[in-house]
Amino acid sequence: MASSSPSIQEMLGRRKSGYALEQPFYTSQTVYQLDLEHIFYKEWLYAAPSCQLPKPGSYLTLRVGAYEVIVVRGRDGEIRAFHNTCRHRGSTICKARDGQVAKLVCPYHQWTYELDGKLIWANDMGADFDMSKHALRSVQLRELAGVIYICLSDASPAFEPFAGLALSYLSVHDLTNAKVAHTSTIVEKANWKLVWENNRECFHCSSNHPSLCRSFSLDPEVAGVSADGSVSAALQAHFDRCETSGAPAQFRLASDGQFRLARMPLQQKAVSYTLDGKAAVRKNLGHVALPDAGSLLMFHYPSSWNHFLPDHSLTFRVMPISPSETEVTTTWLVNKDAVEGVDYDIKRLTEVWIATNDEDREIVEANQQGIFSPAYAPGPYSPVQESGVSQFVDWYATRLERSLAPTLLAAE
Ligand code: FES
Ligand SMILES: [Fe+2]
Repeated sequence: MASSSPSIQEMLGRRKSGYALEQPFYTSQTVYQLDLEHIFYKEWLYAAPSCQLPKPGSYLTLRVGAYEVIVVRGRDGEIRAFHNTCRHRGSTICKARDGQVAKLVCPYHQWTYELDGKLIWANDMGADFDMSKHALRSVQLRELAGVIYICLSDASPAFEPFAGLALSYLSVHDLTNAKVAHTSTIVEKANWKLVWENNRECFHCSSNHPSLCRSFSLDPEVAGVSADGSVSAALQAHFDRCETSGAPAQFRLASDGQFRLARMPLQQKAVSYTLDGKAAVRKNLGHVALPDAGSLLMFHYPSSWNHFLPDHSLTFRVMPISPSETEVTTTWLVNKDAVEGVDYDIKRLTEVWIATNDEDREIVEANQQGIFSPAYAPGPYSPVQESGVSQFVDWYATRLERSLAPTLLAAE
């Protein structure tokens, strides 16, 4: 690259808060690699709801940049995560996205691992071979109220500040008694930060999301964050009503901005994300007493936003695939005793967010295409409508800058 090109640190240093980022942050392979190495390989990441692994031997795999991870429930009921690379010659062990196994068996030469990662069978390896030295390499994992998080770094950041706060909000949703009603995985041809920026505002909703707008509030206070943490009297009254009924609701933002929790009201009269605003599931998931408690909105950068409603819950997982591609996995959770066709109709349950995800995909893909233009220059965010976007970009830039501090790197 030309020596006159600015370094990443220079671009971060001259960044104006309240403005979109410069082009390389959305297009450069170098920045993409830094995002992986300094953020996705270091932070706690949302993997899946625990109920997706209902029995011993239930597993799922996920890719985080160059890493492949297996998440599996052991015979003791505990969920663990391992690197999906055999300790013999490195083959991928589990090739499917999910499944059910008695043991983890490498397809290459059949090295066989117990569900807790111990190597228990390897053929013709000689008298000196020590099985105990060839267990699968583990990945850090935490279960939080029925939600699984993993961290690829051995020097993981503290999980407790998030877990301690989120636990009280999530407990009322009883996710350990959920089941997966539906999962959708789509690839959006846009940088992962554009996917997040789009998620953190509803400025675009009225002109792009006809079905979501029947239930989701367009009040910018719902998607955004106020600079001083204050909320309107009407929103505070909603929080107070929810809390009196036993459902934690107050707006809480992490001091470093990484996560946010708040139980936000839906459009008047709506109780769920359906076209008619009525509940999608007859048997509630959890114990939220107020039907119109709205949606507990929880984001945790860089990998997840969530909506927890009285009747069902939705989780979204964001994984970068390349500088201009991002995988978004949406999971619909319902009460484990709810029967499809009796207590809920799968189309009715999923249609609003399937449409919304597709609409968002189109939006962020057009955003990415426009940013590819040499004529692109960062524009200002609306202080009224896009405080959440600004908050995300500030978190990202601060997080990357802090991690990069010792090195000077040039963008391509
Ligand atoms: S690479 Fe796994 S058994 Fe040989
Ligand atoms: Fe959207």
